[in-house]
Amino acid sequence: MTTIDSLYPRDVDFAALPEIRESALNALPDPVADFLEGGAGTETTVRANRSAFERRVIRPRPMSGVSEPRTDTTFLGIPLGLPVLTAPFGGDGLFHPDGHLAVARANESCGTASIVPEAGTYSFERVAEAAPVAARIAQLHPFDHFGQGAGRAREAGYSALCVTVDCPTAGFRVRNRINRFDPDLEFFAGNAAGAGTPGVAEMFTQLIAHGAPAWDWARLADATARCGLPWIAKGVLTAEAAERAIEAGASAILVSNHGGRQLDPAPATLDALPEVAAAVAGRVPIALDSGVRTGADVFLALALGADVVVLGRLAIYGLAANGEAGVRRTLELLAEELRTLMILAGVPTISDFGPALVGQR
Ligand SMILES: Cc1cc2nc3c(=O)[nH]c(=O)nc-3n(C[C@H](O)[C@H](O)[C@H](O)COP(=O)(O)O)c2cc1C
Repeated sequence: MTTIDSLYPRDVDFAALPEIRESALNALPDPVADFLEGGAGTETTVRANRSAFERRVIRPRPMSGVSEPRTDTTFLGIPLGLPVLTAPFGGDGLFHPDGHLAVARANESCGTASIVPEAGTYSFERVAEAAPVAARIAQLHPFDHFGQGAGRAREAGYSALCVTVDCPTAGFRVRNRINRFDPDLEFFAGNAAGAGTPGVAEMFTQLIAHGAPAWDWARLADATARCGLPWIAKGVLTAEAAERAIEAGASAILVSNHGGRQLDPAPATLDALPEVAAAVAGRVPIALDSGVRTGADVFLALALGADVVVLGRLAIYGLAANGEAGVRRTLELLAEELRTLMILAGVPTISDFGPALVGQR
């Protein structure tokens, strides 16, 4: 048999992203795999996120002369080799003992950046020590201890906050209920230590029980104005919410439905993106998450108005499959596919993306 040795990678642990997902799901106990894969309600939003990508096509531009596309960009002043960040996901130690330390280290070696979660296994400080260049954005929930968390993030060297605006209470997660899912709260407690910080049990009670004070935009505007860091509004799906977030002082919008884990049914993020991009009209940068699984998804999101994409489950598959190396391989494969598509579609740089590149099936 004659083969071209260099055409497809052979000497590598994972040759394509579906292998990484399969390996991750095989490695995890069933209830943890369900916690990872599951969404809220009947999971229509989880499915809609995927079908919104699958309904779009890339309109080809043959003979464009692009052979070495450039994927570098910046987001909120953070230089990126690829228009990609990893999402804040809590309970990271359930997927791999190194959790967000591994994710941030992988980002550091790939020129991408981490959004480090408040409800993570490791503190903001620990993750920043592990990867000071990549650990740039700290995620917080808008609850009473917000100011204290923001202060810690600033002290630890983070240059921006990501405020989750779609989670005044946890979504109605049916798979977790059926599994009687009851993880050790220590996996979520990295930032729940130190003076003035609520314990992790208190944090969870606030999230799960109803009746805890839910913030509005005015309160968020007040709290963020005091902390002095730029912030991303995570969980925007409409023009109205984008407008309110910008009025409240947001420096960026993250179009997200939390990976279908909160409101169900909710709009798919790729469907919501054009409306949000039109409303934002270039005033602040836009990120998108929820359902991004391939380089083609990154391409479509950039073309329809996102400046960067944020990887949730895709990063977790890499983490669960092989820790830092698994996340690194995920990022490499995503970059390779994106560059391939940029050559095929004739897109030389990230600033050359636009809606004319996208059609519908
Ligand atoms: C296991 C898991 C835990 C998560 N924890 C948080 C969290 O603590 N805070 C938050 O804002 N978003 C959280 N998210 C949502 C992600 O930040 C992101 O919005 C979502 O995963 C994107 O969708 P995708 O997984 O389809 O890419 C979590 C997601 C997963 C899968």
